[in-house]
Amino acid sequence: MPSPRQDWSPETYLRNAAFVPEMGASVLDLLNPQPGERILDIGCGEGSLSAKIQASGANVFAIDLSPEQVQGAQARGVEAHVMDGRDIDFDNEFDAVFSNAALHWMRPISKVFINVAKALKPGGRFVAEMGGAGNIAAIRTALYQALEARGINPSRHDPWSFPGPGEATYLLGKAGFEVKSLDIFARPTELPGDIGGWLDTFASSFLKGLESTEHDAVLDEVRQALKPQLLNSQDIWVADYVRLKFEVVKL
Ligand code: BEZ
Repeated sequence: MPSPRQDWSPETYLRNAAFVPEMGASVLDLLNPQPGERILDIGCGEGSLSAKIQASGANVFAIDLSPEQVQGAQARGVEAHVMDGRDIDFDNEFDAVFSNAALHWMRPISKVFINVAKALKPGGRFVAEMGGAGNIAAIRTALYQALEARGINPSRHDPWSFPGPGEATYLLGKAGFEVKSLDIFARPTELPGDIGGWLDTFASSFLKGLESTEHDAVLDEVRQALKPQLLNSQDIWVADYVRLKFEVVKL
């Protein structure tokens, strides 16, 4: 099933999710872009990391499924195109492929890995960070419970897949990569506002069929369920992120 389309204007995204590119600093370091390299950025969002890669002197070709986000990236001077990571069709063109916080929206991930391998020159690197097994488990569970209580099957609306290290290593190897590093780690992440803002920004595929009173009731139920686990003593919501970060090389 294609990922349900998210409505992400760059302004809304930056209000609720500016932390996403900020958290991408370490995977950008791992990429270590070099002047003159041709680099594909998959799921570029509003392009702030693509612009940083470009500032290093590399030539960036950025893609995202959201036209609004692509416009935002273009406004930063990035060559950005509306394209699905599962549909890329390049042959030995890129020195490196980069992705931050995007691959978990693309199912099946095996298709993306195969296309990335084809897009890279031999020896080219694929450096990415994405949600890993257990990512946002508490949020997902609370959302599932609130929807199931209303007779809705949430798995039909669930756009995410969060592989574990074993599955990712297997699929990357099968696609023709040698793994240089692959780590999974918890990264509890402070949100800029209420958990409802996170849900409206990132979980809209679960919520969009609901009437507005039902939508508010679901958000409230999720909020109450998550308070003991995710609202800290300073009244800041802390999302239970788990990251999978890897650097692999095309054989
Ligand atoms: C993530 O970056 O892990 C993520 C963001 C939004 C929804 C699900 C996961």
